Amino acid sequence: MARPLVRLLLLLSACMFISNLITAEDDEAALLAFKAAAPRWFHPSIAGNLSSLMSLELSVNQLEGSIPASLGVLKDLRYLGLAINNLSGEPPVSLYNLSSLGTLQIQSNLLNGSIPTDIGKRFPSMQLLALDVNQFTGPIPPSVSNLTSLQALRFGLNSFSGYVPRTLGRLRAMQYLDLARNTLEADDREGWEFITSFSNCSQLRRLDITGNNAFTGHLPSSMVNLSTTLQLLGFGATGIKHPLRHRQSGGP
Ligand SMILES: *[C@@H]1O[C@H](CO)[C@@H](O)[C@H](O)[C@H]1NC(C)=O
Ligand SMILES: *[C@@H]1O[C@H](CO)[C@@H](O)[C@H](O)[C@H]1NC(C)=O
Ligand SMILES: *[C@@H]1O[C@H](CO)[C@@H](O)[C@H](O)[C@H]1NC(C)=O
Ligand SMILES: *[C@@H]1O[C@H](CO)[C@@H](O)[C@H](O)[C@H]1NC(C)=O
Ligand SMILES: *[C@@H]1O[C@H](CO)[C@@H](O)[C@H](O)[C@H]1NC(C)=O
Ligand SMILES: *[C@@H]1O[C@H](CO)[C@@H](O)[C@H](O)[C@H]1NC(C)=O
Ligand SMILES: *[C@@H]1O[C@H](CO)[C@@H](O)[C@H](O)[C@H]1NC(C)=O
Repeated sequence: MARPLVRLLLLLSACMFISNLITAEDDEAALLAFKAAAPRWFHPSIAGNLSSLMSLELSVNQLEGSIPASLGVLKDLRYLGLAINNLSGEPPVSLYNLSSLGTLQIQSNLLNGSIPTDIGKRFPSMQLLALDVNQFTGPIPPSVSNLTSLQALRFGLNSFSGYVPRTLGRLRAMQYLDLARNTLEADDREGWEFITSFSNCSQLRRLDITGNNAFTGHLPSSMVNLSTTLQLLGFGATGIKHPLRHRQSGGP
């Protein structure tokens, strides 16, 4: 095991069959060992041998149990895909230590727990953060607004609660914001400011808060300043009273 596994791309398809994208014999040996470790699919004893891995794709399998803490040794990971499995429980703290990640896809599992309040300083390169279709709870930490590379934030279909951070629009590169089907809230006092903060997000294409029925009060007039590139604006099944604040009565 001398060769670094840099640029090795591991692809495990539907039945834990390893697709052949292997770059050298040593790497192949490591991969065979990896495969042998299934169903304990990320056994700590092999984790260290894969420590140069930059991309790990294990989405669309039947992985069960918790996300192994030993993944935390893969310090160089840029891409981690664990989506569409049956992973459960809280993600290990070590997952949030993978500071090189640009893409984290753990959507469509049974994961729970809340997001660390300091997530904003853990992933300086994060572009796509997909946690949708899980059982996450708690607030969306305001520090998310510090993940300045973020282009897509997918938190839909969880149980996130509280107000949406008012500074979220600091994420100027944001294109895709999915907060649909949570228990997020807003009222006339607080909660809608994040819409105003998006005035400068010129690349925003999708903004979906559908199905958060505690989004009450009036839509802020700063809606008019949302990006002209918007393709989807989802405000269905919320508790909104009137289309726009300050709107004259008599409209449709
Ligand atoms: C991992 O590497 C160690 C030493 O670096 C070696 O002893 C061990 O056999 C390797 N394990 C696998 C599964 O290749
Ligand atoms: C998850 O587990 C359920 C029940 O065991 C099973 O029906 C389903 O196919 C599994 N889904 C995945 C993606 O593994
Ligand atoms: C998360 O799910 C696990 C079972 O998968 C359960 O034991 C645990 O209590 C849950 N934790 C929270 C915070 O809901
Ligand atoms: C995460 O990283 C911090 C700082 O680098 C370190 O102190 C901590 O032990 C790590 N935690 C885990 C679970 O890897
Ligand atoms: C965001 O980062 C800035 C600068 O590092 C820091 O001062 C601020 O407290 C952070 N915001 C949050 C909500 O963590
Ligand atoms: C948009 O950017 C301008 C210029 O940098 C700034 O003055 C303004 O406060 C920003 N608006 C919002 C809502 O962040
Ligand atoms: C829209 O943006 C412009 C320019 O930043 C600002 O002057 C105006 O007040 C904003 N409109 C609303 C309704 O917030």
